[in-house]
Amino acid sequence: MTYTIRAMSHEDLAQVNNIDREAFPTQWPPPNYRQELQNKLAHYVVACDDSRTVEAAEVKPRKGLLGLLSRMIPLHKRSYYLDATRPEYTRQYIIGFSGIWVLVDEAHITNIALRQEYQGKGLGELLLIATIDLSMILKASLMTLEVRASNVIAQKLYGKYGFTQVGVRRGYYLDNREDAVIMSTESITAPSFQAQLKQLREALAIKLDSPQAIE
Ligand SMILES: CC(C)(COP(=O)(O)OP(=O)(O)OC[C@H]1O[C@@H](n2cnc3c(N)ncnc32)[C@H](O)[C@@H]1OP(=O)(O)O)[C@@H](O)C(=O)NCCC(=O)NCCS
Repeated sequence: MTYTIRAMSHEDLAQVNNIDREAFPTQWPPPNYRQELQNKLAHYVVACDDSRTVEAAEVKPRKGLLGLLSRMIPLHKRSYYLDATRPEYTRQYIIGFSGIWVLVDEAHITNIALRQEYQGKGLGELLLIATIDLSMILKASLMTLEVRASNVIAQKLYGKYGFTQVGVRRGYYLDNREDAVIMSTESITAPSFQAQLKQLREALAIKLDSPQAIE
């Protein structure tokens, strides 16, 4: 199986919102990813499963006149199906996404989430590595994040990649007043961080290449 990681675009928003709702069902209000794409500080990537295409149901219907036409024309005259209004059924299947805000030399991870069926297979690591790479490209020198105190899986993932707990924000999450654990890296350009990243990258490449890893 192969996966592509690329910058998030407006076309991806319906799938991204679905993944967000599935991963964070109690988070209210949900993040406005459309606004995030306009935000100059924000940088988001999506991971796609190259062996699948998205179901029509996950593609947001077009708005306005084009949207209306695309729904009406097939009902009345199937042969008169304008290219410009044909719904796009063959979009890349997004399996997860992640994002950062870059403020001065700090990259703050705003989110990382995978579809449930893709969790636990090393793909969270793949997204995190892409997020670290993106932070380096954008010249950040350290990375930070907040994670729910109860989210042991995410904390273990971050811990594996050199994030350590540097503080707690009491009652940070509005839905249940749960604490946030603040985690941070050392300098991501430091030789020790780079050496660990290289090792983890190589180990993950072997894991994802092995046929047993992903069924
Ligand atoms: C958190 C999340 C991105 C992790 O991705 P994932 O693909 O499930 O995790 P991976 O398979 O890449 O595992 C990476 C590491 O995470 C930890 N981990 C993963 N699943 C775990 C589990 N069930 N129990 C404990 N640790 C686990 C381990 O440290 C693992 O490394 P290892 O395989 O060497 O033990 C994913 O589970 C997810 O989308 N969760 C819902 C959204 C969320 O909580 N996001 C974090 C917001 S801060």
